[in-house]
Amino acid sequence: MYRKVDMWHSMLWLLLLWPVATKTESICESLEIRQLSDFEKLRNCSIVVGHVRIANLQLPGNVSLADLRCEVTEITDYLMIYRSTGLFTLESIFPKLRIIRGQNLLLDRYALTVYENRNLRELGLVELLRIQKGFIRIESNPMLCFVETVDWIYLLGNSTTQHFAIKHNKSPNHCPVCGGRSADYSYRVKKTINCWNMHTSQRRLIPPKTEGCPKSCGSNGCDSKGNCCSRNCITGCSTQNCTLCANFLRNGRCVDQCYASYELNKRKCVSAKECRQLNLIPLTQGYRCVDHCPNNHKPVLGGNGTLQCQMECKGVFHVKRAADLDQLQDCVTINGSLIIELVDIKEKVISALEQALDKVKEITGYLKVQHSAPLMSLSFLKNLDTIRGDELIENKYVLSVMNNYHLEHIWKANRQVALQRGTIFFHLNPRLCYDKILKLQSSIKSGLKISIADVSPNSNGERVVCGNSIRSLDPQVEDVNSTAVRIVLDYMMWDDIETLIGYSYHYMEAPHTNVTMYDGRHGCGHDNWLMDVSPTKNRRHVISNLKPYTQYAYFVKTLTRTDYHMQIDAYSTIQYFRTLPSKSSPVSHVFGTSDYSTQITVNWWPPRRPNGNITRYIVNYELHNLTEPEANGKNYANVKPFNINDVDCECYDLEPYYSGPQPEDENYYNKEQSIYEDALPDLIYVSRRNLEKKKEKFGKVKDFEDLIAGRPIESMVNSKKTSTTTSATTTTSTTTTSTTTTTTTTPKTPVTQSSLAADAIQSTTMEDPEIQYEKYRQYVEEKMRMAQDTDLEEFVILHDMPKCDNANASIANQLEQKCVVEEELSGISLSGSQLYYNLTKLQPNQYYRVSVRACVDGVINGCSNPATILVKTMSIEADLTNFSECQ
Ligand SMILES: *[C@@H]1O[C@H](CO)[C@@H](O)[C@H](O)[C@H]1NC(C)=O
Ligand SMILES: *[C@@H]1O[C@H](CO)[C@@H](O)[C@H](O)[C@H]1NC(C)=O
Ligand SMILES: *[C@@H]1O[C@H](CO)[C@@H](O)[C@H](O)[C@H]1NC(C)=O
Ligand SMILES: *[C@@H]1O[C@H](CO)[C@@H](O)[C@H](O)[C@H]1NC(C)=O
Ligand SMILES: *[C@@H]1O[C@H](CO)[C@@H](O)[C@H](O)[C@H]1NC(C)=O
Ligand SMILES: *[C@@H]1O[C@H](CO)[C@@H](O)[C@H](O)[C@H]1NC(C)=O
Ligand SMILES: *[C@@H]1O[C@H](CO)[C@@H](O)[C@H](O)[C@H]1NC(C)=O
Ligand SMILES: *[C@@H]1O[C@H](CO)[C@@H](O)[C@H](O)[C@H]1NC(C)=O
Ligand SMILES: *[C@@H]1O[C@H](CO)[C@@H](O)[C@H](O)[C@H]1NC(C)=O
Repeated sequence: MYRKVDMWHSMLWLLLLWPVATKTESICESLEIRQLSDFEKLRNCSIVVGHVRIANLQLPGNVSLADLRCEVTEITDYLMIYRSTGLFTLESIFPKLRIIRGQNLLLDRYALTVYENRNLRELGLVELLRIQKGFIRIESNPMLCFVETVDWIYLLGNSTTQHFAIKHNKSPNHCPVCGGRSADYSYRVKKTINCWNMHTSQRRLIPPKTEGCPKSCGSNGCDSKGNCCSRNCITGCSTQNCTLCANFLRNGRCVDQCYASYELNKRKCVSAKECRQLNLIPLTQGYRCVDHCPNNHKPVLGGNGTLQCQMECKGVFHVKRAADLDQLQDCVTINGSLIIELVDIKEKVISALEQALDKVKEITGYLKVQHSAPLMSLSFLKNLDTIRGDELIENKYVLSVMNNYHLEHIWKANRQVALQRGTIFFHLNPRLCYDKILKLQSSIKSGLKISIADVSPNSNGERVVCGNSIRSLDPQVEDVNSTAVRIVLDYMMWDDIETLIGYSYHYMEAPHTNVTMYDGRHGCGHDNWLMDVSPTKNRRHVISNLKPYTQYAYFVKTLTRTDYHMQIDAYSTIQYFRTLPSKSSPVSHVFGTSDYSTQITVNWWPPRRPNGNITRYIVNYELHNLTEPEANGKNYANVKPFNINDVDCECYDLEPYYSGPQPEDENYYNKEQSIYEDALPDLIYVSRRNLEKKKEKFGKVKDFEDLIAGRPIESMVNSKKTSTTTSATTTTSTTTTSTTTTTTTTPKTPVTQSSLAADAIQSTTMEDPEIQYEKYRQYVEEKMRMAQDTDLEEFVILHDMPKCDNANASIANQLEQKCVVEEELSGISLSGSQLYYNLTKLQPNQYYRVSVRACVDGVINGCSNPATILVKTMSIEADLTNFSECQ
């Protein structure tokens, strides 16, 4: 059997030497192959628009290869081979497969999966050139060889976002090597060590020329005839006469996009006429050539009998979940009314809502938003200008907003939506302030006045402090390093501090400074913001575990006790900071090839986490004497970077912290419960209880009376004096005023300040009671300030040590002077934009160890650890063959 395959290989190769000009392509849909007869469906397909799944296939022993062979050159989604027996190589099925596009992926992730196939000995996808999207997973095929011999990275087109996992196949040590033992084919494996099986090397295309090209080619290079190259062609360089396009094929050329034509199967551009000729419908919306009208279109017969799709956003659209949005996709005018009722609080629907309703400018009927806990604002109707009210709710209301637990805003600031007829109805929106609703009066074109019956000042905004009483926080970045930032807030004063439990700091990566607090936010707490809770009154906080050289957006919010049965939080506006640069991670992949006996060309990709501006690459190389075990191995051209710990790990990225209550939480809807009790993690429960115990009471009136009576101030000042003069640790012994119960922290406050305050009070004992009280208040405030400035040492941001003046400082000197010596790096220094280097004047047939480091600007010793490979130079004989081939 296996031999037969070998024979067949050679025949295939002969066939390929005379490419057959089969122009007609035959398109098939997704296919499931479970038995031999299913191959019939696949046989004549040249393009599968969809996926191919071969699963639980049991091939009989005497199967003829001709029964398996199919014409498929392209699969637009994915290929899965699962638990199939009797299958030795995929070459017998897919000898022509050139591309897997990965437009839709298996489990949203995989484009090629080969899993648990007992007899599979090789993949043999000999013509495969590219897997455009998705991961590769080849696992648990006990007989499978020639997996590690494939340059998967090349197949992925050097994409850094795709990955491959190869596990539990036959150990490469027990597998044959590329081109091994078969002298006949040796000429074919000369230039590469990558292969699909013993006889077929991996196809690689000639890279574009970079020199002697027309100027217009820019950095893309050109082919030998001087035609400019383009990434749009996969099989070649020029987009003319290209046989496989990366994106779209149009009139024999590869293009990025279909201009003034229709997309067919996401791979071809056709004219309306061509689309019709295929018995399909050209759809103006999105310019697609489709086989049936999409959801929000209805089929109509054109005057000359052709079927057409007409967009129809007509009717009353009731959106309860994301799936309901299909019918509204791309609507500009909703000819009718829109009801939003997001009762399924488990679904994350906000971004789908934003995307689907993005284009809506006008609703001819009414808009009703009710029972939608996930909504925080109505700004998902980003472009809405008018609600006409041709149809009204109860003949009266054009906009009805009711029982939306988290709704805080209506439209984006400065956005006016004209309400042409009727009036509005707002009830039971506990976080939406009454005054925000009243501002809609100017949009009500009917002139009807908003009445209390329609908009209740009681049922709206009862859980927030509305109007002027909302306070703001003013945070500042005090210090920053590459992974952490210290934020400091203004002092909280007298009235506010009583109910303050702490602060929450919300932050997210923000490449642009256009983040808003409501972006991607979801009332039920799923959002893109990460959150740190600081359950103390301290006005400083350090956010750590940040990414170096990354811009973040942040805002701060108070956490308050809700004894008042309402939320009295202060917010900051959104601010930005950028972390400092740091040492780069190693370059992500290094490749080396030798085309001549004296030369090695090294290519690499930029580091995955540059952590700053990469201004230099440093290349080093040396002759490498192979040790015995190494010499027995075979494939050295693509060894992984030696220091495995330096390889970046995906899990570095933090998962967003899901702040707020989860829908499955008990009592989620129990409105009697205070927001924070259901909103905050256990942390706050604990701290809240603790705080309860040492509850601070600024019993103002009582104190004031005591002050007038004159006695307590005396004793307070006295006790203050004794404590400051004796020992700072005894201050807590003050007894007469309850104000000093906060002094669990006072031992750390500077003595000078408290004694100043005490002096101030003492000198006023004989003054007017009002002035006395004022002084007393200042004193307490001073203390409160100090209480917010404690534990400074906990908020230190560590900084890199500066460079030593003496470049030869010893370790001891460095420690003593708190400085570091800048490492001298030898090697070839290249600019940060160059990603290749030619090593020349090498010895033939020798291994070289080549290493590449990436260096970040402005960081001492900011060069990455080296990523190293071993590459062997060609033999002199190979040079000769090269030469003769050129004749
Ligand atoms: C496939 O093509 C061959 C040759 O053109 C033809 O004989 C055969 O009937 C076709 N099979 C299918 C299933 O269309
Ligand atoms: C991937 O990168 C290597 C090295 O830079 C280059 O030779 C090769 O052509 C690239 N492959 C693709 C498909 O871009
Ligand atoms: C494309 O093919 C045509 C016809 O075979 C040929 O005349 C033309 O030169 C080719 N163009 C390129 C850029 O190779
Ligand atoms: C058929 O009608 C459509 C629109 O009504 C028009 O675009 C098209 O050119 C017509 N086709 C023919 C063959 O008349
Ligand atoms: C912010 O600006 C960038 C670039 O202009 C844009 O891609 C992005 O969508 C904007 N984000 C928001 C939330 O507006
Ligand atoms: C990185 O480069 C950008 C653009 O050239 C420059 O604005 C920025 O200041 C540089 N950053 C550092 C840390 O050198
Ligand atoms: C490699 O081995 C040769 C011969 O054993 C020796 O002369 C040479 O110095 C070695 N080179 C290195 C870099 O170790
Ligand atoms: C930045 O400062 C934080 C807080 O002191 C510290 O934990 C962290 O290690 C520092 N980062 C670096 C790269 O020094
Ligand atoms: C590097 O070497 C390759 C292979 O010999 C050659 O094609 C290329 O032009 C060289 N590049 C430079 C910049 O010298």
